[in-house]
Amino acid sequence: MTDYYEVSLKQQRQARLLQFEHFQTVEDYVETPGLLMDLFAREKPDVVVHLAAQAGVRYSIENPRSYLESNIVGTFELLEAGRAHPPQHMLLASTSSAYGANTEMPYRETDKADHQMSFYAATKKATENMAHSYAHLFDLPVTMFRFFTVYGPWGRPDMALFRFTKAILKGRAIDVYNYGDMKRDFTYVEDLVEAIRLLIDVPPARPAEGEAVAAGDSLSPVAPWRVVNIGNSDAVQLTDFIKAIEEATGRKAERNLMPMQAGDVPATWADAELLKSLTGYAPGTSVGEGVAKFVKWYREYYRDQ
Ligand SMILES: NC(=O)c1ccc[n+]([C@@H]2O[C@H](COP(=O)([O-])OP(=O)(O)OC[C@H]3O[C@@H](n4cnc5c(N)ncnc54)[C@H](O)[C@@H]3O)[C@@H](O)[C@H]2O)c1
Repeated sequence: MTDYYEVSLKQQRQARLLQFEHFQTVEDYVETPGLLMDLFAREKPDVVVHLAAQAGVRYSIENPRSYLESNIVGTFELLEAGRAHPPQHMLLASTSSAYGANTEMPYRETDKADHQMSFYAATKKATENMAHSYAHLFDLPVTMFRFFTVYGPWGRPDMALFRFTKAILKGRAIDVYNYGDMKRDFTYVEDLVEAIRLLIDVPPARPAEGEAVAAGDSLSPVAPWRVVNIGNSDAVQLTDFIKAIEEATGRKAERNLMPMQAGDVPATWADAELLKSLTGYAPGTSVGEGVAKFVKWYREYYRDQ
């Protein structure tokens, strides 16, 4: 319930989740000392999926400390709780931004990823490394997800789809960065959820000494740890994405062409072969279909538009 964007949207999401009989909430900051430790001691979780974070590339230039606290300290508290009360599998969200300045496409999990371009990406890459050390030292099975531009109903208001839809429906111009020459691997939220659900059942196992790791697998040679891309494996031009919003809203966008934003990368594209080989699943919702579902949700949610 941090106020990075409208808290009412978070409350509405939570109200939906509370309809599930076994869903419970604890409202606090993940970095609060002892919070996760007490929760793990009480619940003894089998599986932990950690999504809470300070997200967003742009805001990390303005307020880097919130990324340090939520992402680095928060993940440290989570790992300490996992060390004391080990789950069978911990799955933590990282990001495609971890690939940073890499230019070879599509991005593979086995590629080096050492040149992050924003502090957000740097904190997320750091959490991958922190989790690796705990997996190695304390035999904690850890899967790190690298999500690729996730979008859909109930999504984040700071992201392009939300901002563009809002501006187009209000008849205002949209800011198009790098003069529209950007590519993103857009991943529909329901596909992402399916991938997470399937990966829960595939905890990494530490390879035996001398055992070779399969080609294309990011499994660590010294820990039950791997990193997995979750993406559509399709790099879509920003201009085509905007066209999909125009079609779904039935309105023409007025474009404000802008230079590249600091910290941002011109393209992302996931190699999703590892996800497929681990789970048999490949995300496949097209941008046209996903954007239409988002716009339908948006219009219903903000009924006055
Ligand atoms: N949406 C994407 O395209 C994308 C891409 C790559 C990675 N991710 C990662 O996926 C995860 C989920 O992101 P999302 O896009 O669903 O964003 P989101 O804003 O919907 O979810 C993040 C939640 O974490 C909460 N949070 C923030 N700081 C917190 C703190 N210190 N303590 C407790 N809760 C806190 C926020 O209030 C929010 O509800 C994040 O880890 C994010 O970095 C998202």
